[in-house]
Amino acid sequence: MVQKLIMDQGLFITFEGIDGSGKSTQSEMLAAKLTQLGHKVVKTREPGGSAGAEMIRSLLVSGDTDRWSPETEILLFTAARRDHLEKTVIPALTLGHIVICDRYVDSTRVYQGVARADLRETVDQLHSIIIQKEPDLTFVIDADPENALARGLARDSGEDRFEDFGLSFQKSLRAGFLDLAKSENHRCHLINGMRAREQIADDIAAIAVSHIA
Ligand code: ADP
Ligand code: TYD
Repeated sequence: MVQKLIMDQGLFITFEGIDGSGKSTQSEMLAAKLTQLGHKVVKTREPGGSAGAEMIRSLLVSGDTDRWSPETEILLFTAARRDHLEKTVIPALTLGHIVICDRYVDSTRVYQGVARADLRETVDQLHSIIIQKEPDLTFVIDADPENALARGLARDSGEDRFEDFGLSFQKSLRAGFLDLAKSENHRCHLINGMRAREQIADDIAAIAVSHIA
């Protein structure tokens, strides 16, 4: 039987959105704010966040767009997620810490389940067998795809495999995230990412703090 990784302690916060929408910036700012308020915070990311998952990350984010099929991507992202949960997320939640994760299963639901292919059911089936854990709170940062793609590519990170699918791909991702935020509105907060960093961070911090108190 697959070992369950559900953990009801701590608080598991995720950031989602299209490439370049400002997730890393905002997750760093929230981590700094909550740390300043005296909370023990673990800031992490997907794909990655543990030694094994970081190795899988390098396979996924570089190389040609046709390097992996959408089906293979689902398996690789899920393998990375399982390792990340076992090694990083669950141990931190067990200690009662706040875990802030830049991307999680909602990215698989939208990238592999909607934009790369129509595979949402497969993503959900695999998630229910291997992962199960859902976030307690999710910030979906909404951004204009043209702007966000330019911001993302300007970083010149060498991790642009998904940006290389182009603007229409980013537009379909945006629609996917908007739908997801609506259907998961018990935990998802849609945030307008086309504003000044500090303004966005203030809104996010207010929501996060209201969940902790
Ligand atoms: P993501 O993690 O969603 O890909 P990042 O946080 O890395 O996005 O931001 C992408 C780029 O846009 C970075 O160069 C970052 O400094 C810049 N950026 C982030 N937030 C804003 C903002 N609110 N306004 C303008 N530029 C931003
Ligand atoms: P990330 O480094 O967060 O990208 P960015 O900073 O550009 O937003 O994530 C790497 C890429 O992996 C990103 O393009 C989205 C993609 N991805 C998926 O396709 N499925 C997934 O399940 C996850 C977690 C990420």
